[in-house]
Amino acid sequence: MAKKYLITSALPYINGELHIGHLVGCWLPSDVYARFCRAMGRDVLYIGGADEHGTPAMVGAWKENMPVLEYTNKYYEKHLRAVSDFNLSFDLYGRTHTELQEKLIHDLFKRLEERGLIEERETVQPFSVDDDMFLADRQLEGTCPKCGYEKARGDQCDNCSATYEADELINPRSAISGSTNIEMRKTKNLFFMASKIEGDWRKWLLQHAPKWSKTASAIAMGWANEGLHDTSITRDLKWGIPVNKPGYENKVFYVWFDAPWGYVSISQAATKDWESWWKNPDCFYAQFMGKDNVKFHSVFFPEQQLAMNDNWKTVDLLKAVNFLNFEGGKVAKSTGNGIFLDNALNIAPSDCWRYALMASAPETDDTDFTMARFVDIVNKDLNGLLGNFVSRVCKLSAKNFGEIVPNGTEIDSELANKINEKIEELTNAMEKCEFRKSIVALREIYGLANEYMTIKEPWVLVKNGDLNGAGAVLNECFQLIDLFARVSSPFIPDAAAKIQNIFANEHDLSWPTKYEHRISNGEGFTVPENLFNRLELQED
Ligand code: 2FM
Ligand code: ZN
Repeated sequence: MAKKYLITSALPYINGELHIGHLVGCWLPSDVYARFCRAMGRDVLYIGGADEHGTPAMVGAWKENMPVLEYTNKYYEKHLRAVSDFNLSFDLYGRTHTELQEKLIHDLFKRLEERGLIEERETVQPFSVDDDMFLADRQLEGTCPKCGYEKARGDQCDNCSATYEADELINPRSAISGSTNIEMRKTKNLFFMASKIEGDWRKWLLQHAPKWSKTASAIAMGWANEGLHDTSITRDLKWGIPVNKPGYENKVFYVWFDAPWGYVSISQAATKDWESWWKNPDCFYAQFMGKDNVKFHSVFFPEQQLAMNDNWKTVDLLKAVNFLNFEGGKVAKSTGNGIFLDNALNIAPSDCWRYALMASAPETDDTDFTMARFVDIVNKDLNGLLGNFVSRVCKLSAKNFGEIVPNGTEIDSELANKINEKIEELTNAMEKCEFRKSIVALREIYGLANEYMTIKEPWVLVKNGDLNGAGAVLNECFQLIDLFARVSSPFIPDAAAKIQNIFANEHDLSWPTKYEHRISNGEGFTVPENLFNRLELQED
């Protein structure tokens, strides 16, 4: 039976516009990996979705002056649109404001309570007198107590990633009204006694984190030096999963005792067989996210999973990427800097974004993405090395042999050796989710094919009347085109499908272990439209 692979992509908050940072941070890496795993014949469950809870949705709805549910429906549609525009192959792109999620969270909470891991505590929380409500997390802003960043959120600093309690924030103000009339008022909340499972978690972390991506394991190991703190898992808010405990009618569960479990409830919605991934110790679980989410996936989610003592599958490979800037600045709708997903396809087709962004993935450091870089990658790699090769081979063959693949001979062993080396490099990099390296190897495969054709000069052989020789070279080139479709398909699925369609017979897009001849002598083909068009850099 095929091995099970569980793949999750961090659930973006539902508010605001999606941009290329979302693509490069979690959607594309997870999709490329999921497609690779399927091509390897693995049994994949690939899950994503929108995080509808927490304060971002409330603040967003307040700003657009609409009921929260209407607001989340509107933005969920935008997410679905982007998921289909960019060919993301989720088994299900779900959401967290569902009955399944509510039932799951309620059951999990009961379980923690039964295990003696929940405690009621009185805390002081910021209360905005002008807004007449308690403020949680993003509803509160102020100066970070750790680094002094002035736009820190109530629970977490976007500048230094520190997390803290609201009363530690300096100069607090309401993110809703901007009011600084904030009082600290007493309220009751439920705490998850994470400190009680610190030993289990630390052992788990030390075993797992060294196998994660460098960015992820460096951040996670930093937390190993800190103890596990008991954390409040409820909030005085009206929007979220209601707390199933008498006396807590006006409260909801905190988004971090909610969002990651969305992976499970969305899995439940996707397949009745969900436990064969989530409760299966032999399953391999890979998670994808931006670096700001590492703490939650290496500390909060696994500590909750371990505390349940119910055989939950924890992450095996945590892949985190750094931030992608655009033209030297942060991507932000407020400043208009960046490419937003509702506009990206007006600039270039989805495959171009998929390939160029993965070639620029901020894997080792924050990376600056520019339009010049984008145009350069598309023109050189996709239009030049890939598209032109396919087009030249098809046109030259059609002209001299008609639309059938000319007869070939034995595989060219010198070429095969070189290509096989690159297939191995590519496969190893894909297994480790090192996407920049993968693209380098992929580009080298395209390069070797071009080099082969340049050296063999089939057009000269035709001119000299050596039609057998020319046919054999072109046959080899068709075999290379077939290989291109297979190794490119996780990155550029549209182009891979078009390449596949050139041939009259169907050839699967399974992942190759080595270069092989799969196209028969005399197989029909059609000369395709250009796979890619050259992009021009718009100067403005
Ligand atoms: O930080 C965020 O974007 C949250 N929406 C959580 C994402 S990860 C999660 F789903 F676990
Ligand atoms: Zn800070």
